[in-house]
Amino acid sequence: MRMRKKKHGAERIAACSELLIENIEVLKEGFGEVFSTDRPVHMEIGCGKGNFACGMAEKYPDVNFVAVEKVADVCCVALEKARARSEERPDDNLRFIIGDAKNLAENVKPHSLDCIYLNFSDPWPKAGHAKRRLTYRSFLEIYKNLLNEDGILKLKTDNVGLFDFSLEEFEAFGMKIIWHTRDLHSEPQNADNVMTEYEKNFSDKGQSICSAWVKFED
Ligand SMILES: C[S@@+](CC[C@H](N)C(=O)[O-])C[C@H]1O[C@@H](n2cnc3c(N)ncnc32)[C@H](O)[C@@H]1O
Repeated sequence: MRMRKKKHGAERIAACSELLIENIEVLKEGFGEVFSTDRPVHMEIGCGKGNFACGMAEKYPDVNFVAVEKVADVCCVALEKARARSEERPDDNLRFIIGDAKNLAENVKPHSLDCIYLNFSDPWPKAGHAKRRLTYRSFLEIYKNLLNEDGILKLKTDNVGLFDFSLEEFEAFGMKIIWHTRDLHSEPQNADNVMTEYEKNFSDKGQSICSAWVKFED
């Protein structure tokens, strides 16, 4: 996501420090230091401006949510949104990490997550850029290490090329596709759906949304 450099970005992020996991190394021991209540942990990777993370944390107070975003200025918007909406959350169950997904495996306790969400990840359409896609096998290896035995990876995208590539990668990696659709908003599963900023923009333009839920097999 491109964004003009924010004025006073560092100060604005610091003002939301109660929502930020600044030193992700604490996660080597799990999420006990971060959340006061022990609950299943769900992680969104590439959260953008944070609408999904805020909406999910409000809707599911029995889950702890962690949203990861590699661009600090984008995460600043998400943090400020989460702060403005803190009254909407029945519990203190939302945190953000400013960082790259590729660094999660070495800093987060293995098998400590119940669900990972990839929402409208950058499609990187050029074949030479396939390794940058968040569903490329090197990223799947990271997610496999992070998710627990019953953990699920949930993907949403408008991009058919990325969706087809992802389904192929999942199968090549030996993952089980539990459910998938090329038109999420016409499915019963949409009843529980929380829309992201990109999802709203694309669906307002009449574009259908692809989604898949997958599991790693032993
Ligand atoms: C196309 S935007 C979608 C944002 C949001 N999920 C939505 O649906 O509205 C993708 C976001 O993923 C972030 N991102 C891309 N690669 C990432 C990575 N390796 N680790 C963390 N965030 C990443 C980008 O900075 C960008 O904000």
